[in-house]
Amino acid sequence: MANLAILGGDKLIKEDYLSLFPEWPPRDEATAEALKKVYMEGNWSFNSPAEQEFEKAFAEYHGAKYGIFMVNGTTTLECSLAALGIKPGDEVIVPALTWMATALAASYLGAIPVIVDIEPTTLCMDPEKMRAAITPKTKAIIPVHVYGSTADMEKILEIADAHGIPVIEDCAHMHGGFWNGRGAGSWGKIGSFSFQQSKTMSSGEGGICITSDPELAEKLFLLKHIGYSRGIPQGQAQRAPEGLLCHNYRATAFQAVILSQQLKNLKSMIDSYASNAEYLRNAIKDIPGVRMQAPGRLATPQGYYSFHLIFDGEPFKDIPKAIINEACGAEGFPIGNGTHGPVYKASLFNLNLEKGEYRIPDGRCAVCEDLFPRTLGSAHNVLTRRDTMEKLSAVLHKIYDNIDELKQYAASKK
Ligand SMILES: Cc1ncc(COP(=O)(O)O)c(C=O)c1O
Repeated sequence: MANLAILGGDKLIKEDYLSLFPEWPPRDEATAEALKKVYMEGNWSFNSPAEQEFEKAFAEYHGAKYGIFMVNGTTTLECSLAALGIKPGDEVIVPALTWMATALAASYLGAIPVIVDIEPTTLCMDPEKMRAAITPKTKAIIPVHVYGSTADMEKILEIADAHGIPVIEDCAHMHGGFWNGRGAGSWGKIGSFSFQQSKTMSSGEGGICITSDPELAEKLFLLKHIGYSRGIPQGQAQRAPEGLLCHNYRATAFQAVILSQQLKNLKSMIDSYASNAEYLRNAIKDIPGVRMQAPGRLATPQGYYSFHLIFDGEPFKDIPKAIINEACGAEGFPIGNGTHGPVYKASLFNLNLEKGEYRIPDGRCAVCEDLFPRTLGSAHNVLTRRDTMEKLSAVLHKIYDNIDELKQYAASKK
């Protein structure tokens, strides 16, 4: 009689999987009341008090002077590049492992995304690969603090500064993270965040740029507010500087109200995610062949958008990840497909390499390509409870203890 549930053994986790963590996005009465207040007051957009309050609080939280609230975390990247003067033909270095918006932001301005490989431990941009990709055309670098890790900002900034290249941090996955005492997004020239539905702070859609540079803050505001300066009434508006093609990328007061409420809970949420992730990391240390994405070197706390398990050693390395996940699911704890994989292989990514619309200096990003088929991952809210992590650890131990059964199952599926 087999032990693993996938082969007819007893299922380990008896509870409904969806009862093991809170629903996302979060909802509460206090936010509903605050939304109702803004709704009744009628100040719904156009640099409303609710937006200004949120911009100030979010920027301060992360240690920056200015916040510029926008419609999503793609436009924040595009505007960041535009504010830095990125022009057609310029090159922008981005990591292979990211959502495609990081690369497309450059394309929207006619610039060329240059895609470099990641570190096998943190899954963030490899600073040495970045260094090797710099050319006289490189005009910006966008590291991404991906999933549950922090890019090596010290090394990235050291290299970028030596070349006089500005750095934009893509913090879409890193709300509330700190490292070496400084908040995510406050190390580079500009930090860009997304508040899309699945993010750790979410208003359905939304994004923000943070910066401590007053000139960049002004340009970012003009860019998102169709050329209006902050606080200038319509009748007194001046023309935006020539060459600064401005948009309506304004978000609304409703989104700001939701986010202001979430900001109050961010620290306790991030602290418990970080502590539960560390619990899991330690709890599965004795299982060979599986490891968690390494957190940032100096991050305390680490911001988490999700957490990832990499099955790239013996005895797991030849078992397809779909089968590992099927076995976890049969025990009552499905994990999830994991990383996006290399951006240039994403199904929606339609830039043309032959036409020079993007560049991969090494031809392929081998680390990112090789780790994708070995990685499973779950959304951040799964990290909410310690007992949930205990259950996941128990499932992984059970699978490891019965690894020969799983190997046989995998062989039967070939
Ligand atoms: C790393 C990264 N950058 C940028 C974005 C773009 O954000 P948005 O979906 O708000 O446009 C995302 C969204 O998923 C992301 O994951």
